[in-house]
Amino acid sequence: MANRYYVIDFDSTFTKVEAFDVLADIALAGHPELPLRKKQIEEITKQGMDGAISFRESLEQRLALLPISRPHLQTLVSQLKSKVSESFKRNKEFFSTYADQIYIISNGFREFIEPVVTEYGIKPANILANEFVFDAQGNVIGFDKNNPLSANGGKSERLKNLNLPGDVYVIGDGYTDYEIKHAGLANKFFAFTENVERHSVASKADHIAPSLDEFLYLNKLNTAISYPKNRISVLLLENVHPIAIELMKSEGFAVETYPAGLEEAELCEKIKNVSVLGIRSKTQVTAKVLDHANRLMAIGAFCIGTNQINLTEATKKGVAVFNAPFSNTRSVVELAIGEIIILIRRIADKSLKMHEGRWDKSAKGSFEIRGKKLGIIGYGNIGAQLSVIAESLGMKVYYYDREEKLALGNATKCRSMNELLALSDVVTLHVDGRESNKNLIAADQFAKMKNGVIFLNLSRGHVVDIKALRENILSGKVAGCAVDVFPYEPIDNNEEFVSELRGLPNTILTPHIGGSTAEAQENIGMFVPGKLMDYINTGSTSNSVNFPNLTLPTLENAHRLIHIHNNVPGILARINQVLADHGINIVGQYLKTNELIGYVITDINKGYDQEVIKKLRAIEQTIKFRVLY
Ligand code: NAI
Repeated sequence: MANRYYVIDFDSTFTKVEAFDVLADIALAGHPELPLRKKQIEEITKQGMDGAISFRESLEQRLALLPISRPHLQTLVSQLKSKVSESFKRNKEFFSTYADQIYIISNGFREFIEPVVTEYGIKPANILANEFVFDAQGNVIGFDKNNPLSANGGKSERLKNLNLPGDVYVIGDGYTDYEIKHAGLANKFFAFTENVERHSVASKADHIAPSLDEFLYLNKLNTAISYPKNRISVLLLENVHPIAIELMKSEGFAVETYPAGLEEAELCEKIKNVSVLGIRSKTQVTAKVLDHANRLMAIGAFCIGTNQINLTEATKKGVAVFNAPFSNTRSVVELAIGEIIILIRRIADKSLKMHEGRWDKSAKGSFEIRGKKLGIIGYGNIGAQLSVIAESLGMKVYYYDREEKLALGNATKCRSMNELLALSDVVTLHVDGRESNKNLIAADQFAKMKNGVIFLNLSRGHVVDIKALRENILSGKVAGCAVDVFPYEPIDNNEEFVSELRGLPNTILTPHIGGSTAEAQENIGMFVPGKLMDYINTGSTSNSVNFPNLTLPTLENAHRLIHIHNNVPGILARINQVLADHGINIVGQYLKTNELIGYVITDINKGYDQEVIKKLRAIEQTIKFRVLY
C-alpha cells in the first residue's frame, strides 16, 4: 500500500481536546478577565465557523485576547501529551510503521503539535500547521500569514500543494477535514467520533470511525489490535454502576444500557449480537437465552452471587462468567464490628427504650470489646479481614475453618468448631452458603456457647436454626444478636418481613444489607469491567466463576491463539500438530481444564498464514477460537 496516504487531523482527533481552548486556560490563568475573554473567544470561534468572519480574522481576534508566551506553550505541550486519544495510544505502532505515508494537518500551530506527534514517530516534515511569530522575549505577537492554513480552505490548499502521488484518506472530526474530500483532494473521508460527534460531519463521511481501531481495521492496517473494540457490543442491564459504563465506553466498546432487567423472551432477542453481557441479580441467563447468544464471549455479574446464570450451559458454550466476590468484603466487616460494639453495650435495647421515653442509665451488662474473645467461623475473605480489624481494636481472635487457613496477625486457629464455641465471648458466622451448612448452628451448638454470648450471622440465612436462636435469646444464654440474613427473605420492599426473631431483646435485625454500601457498589462497578476487559484483551480468566483460571503474561511481539474446547483428551496435541505442520514457533503455551472444558492459550511468532487459523478452528470439539494481537 505504498501509494496510499493517511491525513490526520490534530484537535479532537489526535488529541481528545481542542488545543486552543486548553491554551486559553493556561495563558489566562489567574487573569481577572478569564471568564469574559473565554466567552469572547468562544463567540469569535463561532462567528468563524458560521462564516460571519474569515478564519484568519477569527485567528487574529482570538490571539489578540491571549497573552501567549513560550512557557505557556511548554505547559500546553505537556498537557496535550497526556490527552492523546485512547485509540491513538493503543495503536502507536501504526504511526511509526507507516511514517512516510502519514500527514498531520491542522489549523492549529506547529509549536504545540510537533512535540506531541513526533513522539509517535510522525515526521516533522509531514506536519502541516500554522506557525507563531514571537518577539525577542518569547511572546507571541502574531502568526505566519503566508501559511495557507491560516486562511479558509487552508487544509485543501496545503494538500493540493503537496500533490501526493497516490490515494489520500482523511480522518478527522471537523468540517474542514471533510472539505478536503469535497475539494477533490481525498479519496475517502473518515469521520472520527471518539472525542466529539458532529452529525453534520458524520453524515458526509464515507465511514464513521468511533476509534482509530475501526479506521485501521477497515483499511487492513491493524497491527496492535486484532479487532476494533467498537465492533464489540456490550449490553449492560439493571442499572449497573455508572463507573462500569464509563470504563467500558472509554475502552472503546459499543455500550448499550438498560435501567431494568429483561424477561427471557426479550433477552433472547436482544442478546443475538451481544458479545459481553452485564447483569445484576435479577436477570435470569437461562439455557434458552444462551442458545440465542451467537456472539457472546463473557458475562459479568455485577454482584456476588451467580445463581441467576446457568453456569453449566455458559461453560459448555465457551462463555466466561465473572463476578465481584470481594467487592463488599470490607462493608460486611465494618457492620460486624459496629454490631459487636453496639450489642456488647446493649445499645439496641437502650435506644429502643429512649424512643419510648424511658431513661434507664446503668452500666449493667455493658462491656468493652477490648480483651474479649472473638470466635470467627469461616475464615474466608470476610472472616479473615474481620480478624485483622477486630484484633486492631484489642479483641483476641480465634477462628475455625473447615479448610486449612493461614492465621492472620495473632489470631489463633481452633481445631474444631466446638472448641471455638466454648471459649468465645462473641461468635460470628462467615461461612459460605453450601447446602451442608444448613443449621450449622442449632440447639446443640448454642448449648456449647458461653452464657451471655454475643452472636452474629451476616453470612447466609439457612446456616442458623432460627427457632433455637430464639429460644437461646429468650433464655438469656445469647445476650445479644445481630442477624442480617434469613432462611426466607422478602422478594421486595413491599413484602412484610415475618420472623420469629421480631421483638426479641438486644436483637439487631437488618434486611441483608451487610454488603450494601456506596463503596461496595463502586468497587463492583470497577472490578467486573476490569475482569471482562482482561479476558477480552488478553484471554486472562483469573477469578472466572466457570472457566479454568489462567492468569497470563502480557502479549509482546506475538500473536495469541485462544482455544476453548470440550474437555476430551488429545486436543492440545492436535493444536500443536497444526502448528508444527506449518513450522510455527510457540513462544508460550498455557493449558487448564475443568470438568467441562479445556482452555488453551498459545502465543506464537507473528508470521504465519491464514491457513493455520482455519485449521485450528476446524479441530473437532472446538467450542470457540479467537486470535489476539
Ligand atoms: P469465602 O468463600 O471467602 O469464605 C467462606 C469460608 O467459610 C471458607 O474459607 C470456607 O472454607 C469456610 N467454611 C464453609 N463452610 C464451613 C463450615 N461448615 N465450617 C467452617 N468453615 C466453613 O466467602 P466470603 O466472601 O468470606 O463470604 C462469607 C459469607 O458471607 C458468604 O456466605 C457470603 O454469602 C456472605 N455475604 C453476606 C453479605 C451480606 O450482605 N450479609 C455480603 C457478602 C457476603
